[in-house]
Amino acid sequence: MATILVESVSKRYGKHQVLDYFSLRIEHGECFTLLGPSGCGKTVLLRLIAGFETPDSGAIRIGETVVARADNGTHLPPERRGLGVVFQDYAVWPHLSVFDNVAYPLKLAGLPKQSVRDRVLESVALVNMTGLENRLPSELSGGQQQRVALARALVARPALLLLDEPLSNLDANLREEMRFEIRELQRKLDITVLYVTHDQEIALALSDRLAILDENGILRQTGTPPEIFEHPADLFVFNFMGVANLLPARGEGKACLVGRQIFPVEPGACPDGARRLAGFRPSDVLIDRESPDGAPCLRGTVRRASFLGPVMDYLIDVDGNTLRASVDTHEALDRDRMFREGDPCVLRFRNLHWFDASDTAGKGAGA
Ligand SMILES: Nc1ncnc2c1ncn2[C@@H]1O[C@H](COP(=O)(O)OP(=O)(O)O)[C@@H](O)[C@H]1O
Ligand SMILES: [Mg+2]
Repeated sequence: MATILVESVSKRYGKHQVLDYFSLRIEHGECFTLLGPSGCGKTVLLRLIAGFETPDSGAIRIGETVVARADNGTHLPPERRGLGVVFQDYAVWPHLSVFDNVAYPLKLAGLPKQSVRDRVLESVALVNMTGLENRLPSELSGGQQQRVALARALVARPALLLLDEPLSNLDANLREEMRFEIRELQRKLDITVLYVTHDQEIALALSDRLAILDENGILRQTGTPPEIFEHPADLFVFNFMGVANLLPARGEGKACLVGRQIFPVEPGACPDGARRLAGFRPSDVLIDRESPDGAPCLRGTVRRASFLGPVMDYLIDVDGNTLRASVDTHEALDRDRMFREGDPCVLRFRNLHWFDASDTAGKGAGA
């Protein structure tokens, strides 16, 4: 079993407190992603779990084993933690063939020659590289080199695989293909995968659950991809998970106002005297020429219209606030939603997320 338990772990370098009493639990057999902006401490956490670093406080458990514990100096070396690691830069040895690269951990462990051979061929097959065992890394593409690193990480049959942005040097198509393969491998081998990335799309596509870290290494939310995307815990998560519109609203009596207009929202969303931000994705803006049923809508003006192929992308001004809306191109053509710059429009919204206007995790904190 490879449940990972990170308990109140702190790590500092000089004056920089990277992790401060950080806790996390990852269940056996999960594909779990740690998602956060560059520099937030993802690699540090991975290195702590792998055993390349020691925590200043707290403890780390893998399955039943305490692999690190600051207060009594427990530190199990990486090779005894039963895990495989793949880093961003393809850490394959350039002078060794595919076979020898993959065989390396087993030779180090002193396995007999025949079992080394069987295991290497099995592992190479797992990553669809059969037949390329004698190639040198220089004779492989970037994606193939990353497969070699993956095969090497799996060859000792670890219960836990740690992946640190392994796909970020690959082009978009290959990245997509590889993320399906990693998912398949994880299911086939029934191992725990901890995947670290700053890429929201990979995290959503790959994970059973994910954790969102902010730029200070603070855990903002843990959940399944739909939970995180549909119910962001705070403004930081909402901003980080995709293009975010934020419309400042204020409560006056029973009304909710945006600029000088009444914003027709559900009662209680913006109580009297409150200043709040209404957050929504561009795809959750419904744009029309006139209110379809005469119901109240916000009024705006199209400032910019861009044809992006599958969608029309509009920048819209609402009383001095700029927001972005996207409309499926076919729907725009079929239902008279092809707007031009300067056109007036009315707006309705689905999936509004309300945030306090004082929330500090403003725009720019995210992607
Ligand atoms: N060995 C080290 N010495 C000093 N600072 C470090 C070291 N490793 C990481 N850091 C700092 O810790 C912070 C988090 O780094 P890292 O975990 O690599 O971020 P990321 O989330 O991008 O993987 C960064 O500010 C980095 O400069
Ligand atoms: Mg990193």
